[in-house]
Amino acid sequence: MTTSVDIRSEDFLDRPVACLGALRASAPACPVEPESWLLITRHDLVRRILQDTAGFPTIRSKHQQPPAEVADQVAEIRAQGWPYTSALGTSNPPDHTAYRRMVNKSFTPRTLQDLEPLVRQAADDLARILPNGVEIDFQADFAEPLPVWAISRVLGLPPERSADIRRWSTAAISTIGSSPAAADWIRYEEDLLDFQRTMVGVLEASRDSDEPGLIAQLARDLADGDDSDASELPRLITLLRELVVAGNETTGKFIAEAVRTFGADPTVWERIRQDPDFAENVVEEAVRMASPTQHVIRVAADDIDLDGTVIEKGRVVMLSLASANRDEAVFPDPDVFDPDREGLRAQMAFGQGVHSCVGAGLARMESIIAMQVLAEQVERIVPTEPAGPYTRSYIIRGPLEMRATVHRRGSR
Ligand code: HEM
Repeated sequence: MTTSVDIRSEDFLDRPVACLGALRASAPACPVEPESWLLITRHDLVRRILQDTAGFPTIRSKHQQPPAEVADQVAEIRAQGWPYTSALGTSNPPDHTAYRRMVNKSFTPRTLQDLEPLVRQAADDLARILPNGVEIDFQADFAEPLPVWAISRVLGLPPERSADIRRWSTAAISTIGSSPAAADWIRYEEDLLDFQRTMVGVLEASRDSDEPGLIAQLARDLADGDDSDASELPRLITLLRELVVAGNETTGKFIAEAVRTFGADPTVWERIRQDPDFAENVVEEAVRMASPTQHVIRVAADDIDLDGTVIEKGRVVMLSLASANRDEAVFPDPDVFDPDREGLRAQMAFGQGVHSCVGAGLARMESIIAMQVLAEQVERIVPTEPAGPYTRSYIIRGPLEMRATVHRRGSR
């Protein structure tokens, strides 16, 4: 009988699927040490908690604190910037509703429709130059640049900012569910200060412009004196940070992981080529299996009886999307990639309830287009074994590089 789990252990980080599977069977609500959180692994329980916004609000910060030896230096760097606040992902209604309204305008079906041909062109440009028959880093050469490019368009940043966006988002996720080495903390904090300064500069420059993009729109809202709390400058900076990180880290890692899952199988690529809509199923099944956001965190607002387990008021619960998405009660043979499986929409890789991913439509569009464009050009993409390395975070999981050999169509 499992009595507790160490989510920072090498074993958990190396083999999340196996560890979570064992917990689902033996302890679907399992204490996490040393924090005394509760890890919830069953699909029905995860879903129930995510839908109960009042009973289980989100918590302010998901970031680790810096180690003692660099705490002063980190504080000094942070003092030169704007305070870290809560924004979209870390606030609750009614604040959360205000933030969501601010960003929703940039993710409407109409906006995505306008973006579609541009994303397709960008994917095609990247796919066209993938070399045939030699080992490449598919992550760096295709999977990562596409979402970085797309989020730049959504925000209204010039393409020359791509390298900066990657640097900033690496820094921003470095402390979510993982603790970087002390020396790296300093570098990451400096990158985040640079991000803040750049965003403030861009917000100020866009204030009186009629430029497209989310940053210019937020700048105008700020200038119009929208007096809701959400428009304060530090909060806007945090909001932009959330969008930059969420907008490319998860999607880039996902596209690489999806190709790792089925890329070597020419029948999948051929089926997408014959029927481009089939890419929707492929993406949905691959994102179920990858679950790039492995866990989300909430806190019990009151004592709550969860299927016989009493969760005391104030207790933090870690909801395992990665586990819920492999719950055999909902997805028979969960470790088998089966894009034809029924009930795929029950997967929760993009969350559930009020915090469900604001960028899900964009992420799906980018990934579907990526697969369609690749299917036109490649026969298969064979990942190099062994896989890895992967992120060392219990929140965001994905390959840091994905070495693979692309076999282009008609090249034999
Ligand atoms: C495969 C790609 C992606 C995955 C797996 C993913 C996953 C998630 C999940 C699970 C949540 C819910 C977090 C929670 O409940 O606490 C979330 C929220 C969020 N995502 Fe995504 N995401 C992806 C892509 C994107 C993209 C492309 C963007 C933006 C352009 C984005 C922006 C956000 C934001 C801002 C939130 C916070 C929403 C809120 O709290 O209301 N994500 N995402």
